[in-house]
Amino acid sequence: ADFELILRGGTVVTAADTFRADVAIRHGRIVSVGSGLGSADRIIDASGLLVMPGGVDSHVHLAQHAPPGTPQMADGFETGSRSAIAGGTTTVISFAVQPRGASLRESVRDYHTKAEGQSYCDYGFHLIVTDPTPTVLGQELPALVMDGYTSFKVFMTYDDMVLNDRQLLEVFDCARGCGALVMVHCEGYDSIRFMTERLERAGKTAPYYHGASRPQSVEREATHRAISHAELVDVPIMVVHVSGREAMEQIRWARQKGLRIYGETCPQYIALTADDMKGFNMDESGGKYVCSPPPRDHASWEAIWEGIRTGVFQTFSSDHCPFFYEGPDGKQNAKGKTSFRWVPNGIPGVENRMAILFSKGVSEGRISVNEFVALTSTNHARMYGLYPRKGSIAAGFDADIVLWDPNRKEVIRQERMHHAADYTPYEGMEVTGWPVMTLLRGKPVFEEGRILGEVGDGRFLARELSPYATSPGS
Ligand code: URP
Ligand code: ZN
Ligand code: ZN
Ligand code: ZN
Repeated sequence: ADFELILRGGTVVTAADTFRADVAIRHGRIVSVGSGLGSADRIIDASGLLVMPGGVDSHVHLAQHAPPGTPQMADGFETGSRSAIAGGTTTVISFAVQPRGASLRESVRDYHTKAEGQSYCDYGFHLIVTDPTPTVLGQELPALVMDGYTSFKVFMTYDDMVLNDRQLLEVFDCARGCGALVMVHCEGYDSIRFMTERLERAGKTAPYYHGASRPQSVEREATHRAISHAELVDVPIMVVHVSGREAMEQIRWARQKGLRIYGETCPQYIALTADDMKGFNMDESGGKYVCSPPPRDHASWEAIWEGIRTGVFQTFSSDHCPFFYEGPDGKQNAKGKTSFRWVPNGIPGVENRMAILFSKGVSEGRISVNEFVALTSTNHARMYGLYPRKGSIAAGFDADIVLWDPNRKEVIRQERMHHAADYTPYEGMEVTGWPVMTLLRGKPVFEEGRILGEVGDGRFLARELSPYATSPGS
């Protein structure tokens, strides 16, 4: 046969075009897109389905180290990547965190150990810099960027992660020097501490008050500060997990000034609200929705759509950061029941990211299917140095493909999830549009609810420098 596999009769969708075509695959790559392509060992009938690039989720947390005595992350690479392919995502970029006082290089090795042979999908790593010592910024970080870890995240909050303004400037300057893309978690540490203590003194400790401890002004202030620091140093930055209008408008303002400030948003900001954190009559079940920045309100959903439609946001990521609600021992959430301060921040979502955006975006007529592909795959690949290997359906790309039924109505249910977390914050949500089959480098790894791939199918991806971080011609 001419090819190993042909996907026949589907509608190919890229960030630019929609057209009827067959897709021929050999040695894990797309070799031809068109009609009358030849013979193949296997033909898959894709009629009635959309043939789209497998999702690239550039913001997931898997097997992330948590201090002893604090809730541990529910998903490692095995269950997290299984959940990814079940949702149509074929590449994840997870985080390798530098614990304070540790070497960045050693930390990266630890995360490789956790991922090696354990992943159902391809994966890369962003670094998280928590301790920007002269050695880290002068030697370790530039060397790691050269080795394919071409982006890193910094935090403006969290006790064990926060950087002060001077440190942010030093890190930004280092990124400028080595052409890395910096992702910034924009929430103000001092404001959150102040509000948290005030709420606790008033006895307001239910999960709902997590939202009140970090309102949009706290996110907006930090976003503005990060943008100002980026302007001072003259380096592009990516503002991750933007929750609503206040921060969104800071990014839009910066772009209108000509600054290269990019934006990411997530399913929780178009599908959840602060009221979800009320749980059942302000009980602890509201903890299932605690993430940072927190979900806001319906007006914020509209602001996020406005930002999506007008190009403020390049990427739609899950920020999959799964913790157990009860956990295997039933006690994972015990401390969280005493105050929102102890509820681990983060929710699972890698499996539902594409279905939520497709349903609310494409099926409800807010965005085109091409914008959907850009927001879930192509832009992530371009932004994070995986293009033209990942992120499109064209000759030469890896055959990472999702066959998508645009008309299928489904209900999101925990019992159908492939993650290890013991709940989904999207329980009961009705969606239109669903992944039917996922192919990783030409191999069907998921079909109709069943995992066909094997753990270890996924490979590590060393990434190129982001064209969005470097200047053309530099
Ligand atoms: O609450 C969240 N988003 N936890 C994940 C860590 C982060 O800040 O992205
Ligand atoms: Zn072959
Ligand atoms: Zn963050
Ligand atoms: Zn995150």
